[in-house]
Amino acid sequence: MAVAKVKTQYFCQNCGTSSPKWVGKCTSCGEWNTYVEEIVKKNDDPRSSPFSRSNGRAVKPLNLNEITGGEERRIPLYDKELTRVLGGGLVPGSLVLFGGEPGIGKSTLMLQLATNVKNMRVLYVSGEESEQQIRMRAERIGIKNQDCFILTETNTANIFQQAAIIEPQLMIIDSIQTLHTASVESSPGSVSQVRECAGEMLRYAKENEVPVFLIGHITKDGSIAGPKVLEHMVDTVLQFEGDRNHVYRLLRTTKNRFGSTNELGIYEMQGSGLREVSNPSEILVTSRDEAVSGVSIAVLMEGLRPMLIETQALVSSAAYGTPQRSATGFDLRRLGMLLAVLEKRCGFRLGVKDVFLNIAGGLKVEDPGIDLAVVCAVLSSNADMPIANGVCFAAEVGLSGEIRPVTRIEQRISEAEKLGFKEIYISKFHKGLKQDNYAIRLRMCGKIEEVFSGLFG
Ligand code: TYD
Ligand code: MG
Repeated sequence: MAVAKVKTQYFCQNCGTSSPKWVGKCTSCGEWNTYVEEIVKKNDDPRSSPFSRSNGRAVKPLNLNEITGGEERRIPLYDKELTRVLGGGLVPGSLVLFGGEPGIGKSTLMLQLATNVKNMRVLYVSGEESEQQIRMRAERIGIKNQDCFILTETNTANIFQQAAIIEPQLMIIDSIQTLHTASVESSPGSVSQVRECAGEMLRYAKENEVPVFLIGHITKDGSIAGPKVLEHMVDTVLQFEGDRNHVYRLLRTTKNRFGSTNELGIYEMQGSGLREVSNPSEILVTSRDEAVSGVSIAVLMEGLRPMLIETQALVSSAAYGTPQRSATGFDLRRLGMLLAVLEKRCGFRLGVKDVFLNIAGGLKVEDPGIDLAVVCAVLSSNADMPIANGVCFAAEVGLSGEIRPVTRIEQRISEAEKLGFKEIYISKFHKGLKQDNYAIRLRMCGKIEEVFSGLFG
């Protein structure tokens, strides 16, 4: 009597690498204890063979000049932050992965999209919550779209069956980890299930020209197949981040086939859903009547959008032998470098001081244009002299203490001017800037000492 042999393989639940045998440490991503045995189908999927085509349709190569329709159609969304982060709207047939830690607000944002878009039939598939729960949440957010359908289903065949009836123009899957397909035998949430279900969604999106959002959880211990596996399958990867203790949520793209990955969307979590923060400077700069020491304002670019952000520093005599350096929202090594520049090139004695740095709003800043603001916040705290209200900074600081130019300076100056700032410290190496064009005073400096004497005279 022959017993059908079940073929199994081990998959890394973090990155999806497979191995015929169990291994303790993944050879690909280096994680420990992530290999789990999964059943793979005995007859290999014909799609994986390079010599057969899944749909039997012969595709001929086209001369590049014969291909028409270069411009992508974009569907503008109700949500302006999301539209901008996606690169100007949703592309029909695109597959978007929307990742984030549990409880950050992924379901809320997607439901908000589903209930707020205009003239669009939306199918919201949830494998996590009941219809009643979703209805309650939708009422909290406010239902504006009369064509929004909720389906609580996790089997992909059933989902596609319903989708064929409803013919949605937008589909949202909450979440990819709850889906399962009959073509793979392992349990929902395992790497092979997640990958296969996402593959089916990809085919659905492309064949029907329907944009599909896949919500994906990221867990720190990697016990669920992380969206890492999916990243190269999808067109766009959106990430929702934020501090659970802060009300602000940041939306970023880490991959976008249809646009730049520099854009940042900001939301505020409120009782009635997520509010778009269209003018981030309003929340990132505290308005004070009195200037306090250790606070400076930087003019940054997040993608194509300028914003002003508050930088706070606290410099104090080291309480213990070794001085402490800590930074929130700013690269600690870069802070170390800036402090070394101040010490070595400019003669400020900071080597024996504790230095703490904090960027407002839980934001992580990578734009080097914040350097000068960081340096000035540190110097202001060190000297215990406040920087006057209405002063802001936009420059990089080099290793020899020189003030270096930054990108899109005109845009930054205009933003600062628009928000009522009186003076902006920038590099003197910018070419073609004319003071006459601006009401804000341009303080063009070449060295930190010049900035210091300009500020504290
Ligand atoms: P949720 O969208 O369920 O997170 P995720 O899908 O990423 O796991 O949002 C969870 C949190 O959001 C929850 O703690 C409650 C809060 N919330 C609000 O503050 N206001 C609201 O209007 C809604 C719907 C949720
Ligand atoms: Mg959710």
